[in-house]
Amino acid sequence: MVEISTSILSVKEAESIKKFYDLEVAHTDYFHIDVMDGKFVANNTSQLMKEYVNQIKQISNIPLDVHLMVTNVREYLEEYIPVNPNIITFHYEAVKNSEEIMSLINYIKENNIKVGLSVKPDTKIEEIYEFLPYIHMVLVMTVEPGKGGQKLIEETLNKIKQLKQYIQKNNIELDIEADGGINLETIKKVKEAGIDIAVVGSGIINTENYKETIKQLKNI
Ligand code: DX5
Ligand code: ZN
Repeated sequence: MVEISTSILSVKEAESIKKFYDLEVAHTDYFHIDVMDGKFVANNTSQLMKEYVNQIKQISNIPLDVHLMVTNVREYLEEYIPVNPNIITFHYEAVKNSEEIMSLINYIKENNIKVGLSVKPDTKIEEIYEFLPYIHMVLVMTVEPGKGGQKLIEETLNKIKQLKQYIQKNNIELDIEADGGINLETIKKVKEAGIDIAVVGSGIINTENYKETIKQLKNI
């Protein structure tokens, strides 16, 4: 059964407490925290996400799935390690240098937090093969990072399939998470491509009944 990580990016400040409570009751598997620095992507959500994480921590024990779309990964690790998320994912494209990537992976693991590595739609999946034995999850962006409510980029499905085949052939234990444009219409093909976790933002936040939507997303 695919797990659902609800992106809180499109939650409006005025109704955030109620929305987080509704997601707690609806049993989302994770809260997906989209941290953007205004450099790696144009949007800057740093303050808002910090505020939302504080609110969520008061309402729920559901694990946090932190997605860092930032240039200075270390700076944001100092902010997010203390909130003790389940996993912290950073972008391959933000670091690129293998030694630095390995050092970040080890630093996150030394703090007893799982590590994810994310790739943008145009990045070839082979570019991160060398890191796979050391991480817990690959976050395959199925839209360009930077905002919610975008259309899923179909070409990225082949990347998920290629990654799935590679980790099965090489006996590598890791989760594949897809992120962007996933909803009741698109989730079937993303599941067929081989994901373990689906990030869903507007496909849940804009619906009437979160519990029902999450149930449908899991059962399609
Ligand atoms: C985009 C974020 C995604 C996005 C998902 O940069 O990483 O998590 O918020 O939102 P939807 O599901 O609306 O595409
Ligand atoms: Zn995300």
